[in-house]
Amino acid sequence: MGSGKQRSYSELINVGIIVICSCLFVVNSDSDADADAGAKWRRPPVERSCANAYEGRWVYDESYPLYDSSACPNIRKEFDCNECGRPDHLYLKYRWQPDNCDLPRFDAKDFLWRLSGKKIMFIGDSVSLNQMQSLLCLLQTGLPNTNIIGQSNDTITTVIFEDYDVSVILFHSLYLVDIQVVENVGRVLKLNSLKDGNIWKNIDVLVFNTWLWWYRRGPKQPWDYVEFDNKILKDMDRMDAFRQGLKTWAKWVDSDVDTTKTTVIFQGVSPSHYNGTEWDEPEVTNCANEKQPIVGSKYPGGLPEAALVVKDVLRTVKKPVHLLDITTLSQLRKDAHPSSFNGFKAMDCTHWCVAGLPDTWNQLLYTALVNNG
Ligand SMILES: *[C@@H]1O[C@H](CO)[C@@H](O)[C@H](O)[C@H]1NC(C)=O
Ligand SMILES: *[C@@H]1O[C@H](CO)[C@@H](O)[C@H](O)[C@H]1NC(C)=O
Repeated sequence: MGSGKQRSYSELINVGIIVICSCLFVVNSDSDADADAGAKWRRPPVERSCANAYEGRWVYDESYPLYDSSACPNIRKEFDCNECGRPDHLYLKYRWQPDNCDLPRFDAKDFLWRLSGKKIMFIGDSVSLNQMQSLLCLLQTGLPNTNIIGQSNDTITTVIFEDYDVSVILFHSLYLVDIQVVENVGRVLKLNSLKDGNIWKNIDVLVFNTWLWWYRRGPKQPWDYVEFDNKILKDMDRMDAFRQGLKTWAKWVDSDVDTTKTTVIFQGVSPSHYNGTEWDEPEVTNCANEKQPIVGSKYPGGLPEAALVVKDVLRTVKKPVHLLDITTLSQLRKDAHPSSFNGFKAMDCTHWCVAGLPDTWNQLLYTALVNNG
């Protein structure tokens, strides 16, 4: 972990903590609910298989982006690059082209039709929020008149698409495993405990993500001790802690989740761009001047170690878990971060502009759900 990365982590804290305010979202009352309700019963399109959608390259596509971000209500300023004055727009014009197939274009009606009567939950840190905001934009711009209600508190944000009875939920969890306040000790990160799983296992589609916070230190580290195999420690190797936390999650999937009812998706590590050595520009220390993706399918810096840990642990899960393997394709998008166009002006090369890259993550999520039937 070099100094460039350390700095980026502390800068991130502001975004990472994103406090979700208690508020009620806009309610659309003048909707043409009839039209939407009719659409809900139409037949889904023929399923197209796109099994290895994660190997490919970025191609310029005049028809992109998938929506105009100014038509999407409620994008957080941290991700709303256009609104925050980002002057270049080329980054919006790239489509992910898998080597062996074409991604189905995101179809908001079909997405909600497939999920009708169901709940999809994103569980993780601010990267999960980033992805959920993109999904809401894809759905809301695709169906501008559909009825939506939303509510949130510190832990859970729920947006309900009433005409389809679909709930899109964000569950804020930095590590997936628990942080518990223990008397006379303090806040303990419990690597062997995953109590929130009792809530998650009742949801139809789960999309997990954790990584950003595992190396956080100093005053913004949200725990004082780490507990592992019944030992309470002041600290431990962070990559090992990450691995142990994921193993606990993996065991929970095998023991507690009924995967005939619940689809389990794990989102691969979302990369950041603070180290130009990784893309053959050794003097560069952030993403401020990046306006185009890397050409081709290979990221010169290779996969981050955390991504290898994720793959290792997922291999041990016996039940079906889909890896939403966005790491490499996102590494190629050094141009897709907010940089300083994020409303609080600190350099952010960790999160992603909306509209932008997370729309592709959601296209891939959609593809995975389509393939899953
Ligand atoms: C940047 O990445 C290179 C290659 O992956 C690595 O050797 C170097 O230590 C990194 N530098 C920092 C400051 O993290
Ligand atoms: C947040 O809301 C959910 C349901 O919407 C509820 O179960 C949970 O207890 C609430 N949490 C807090 C901290 O208020």
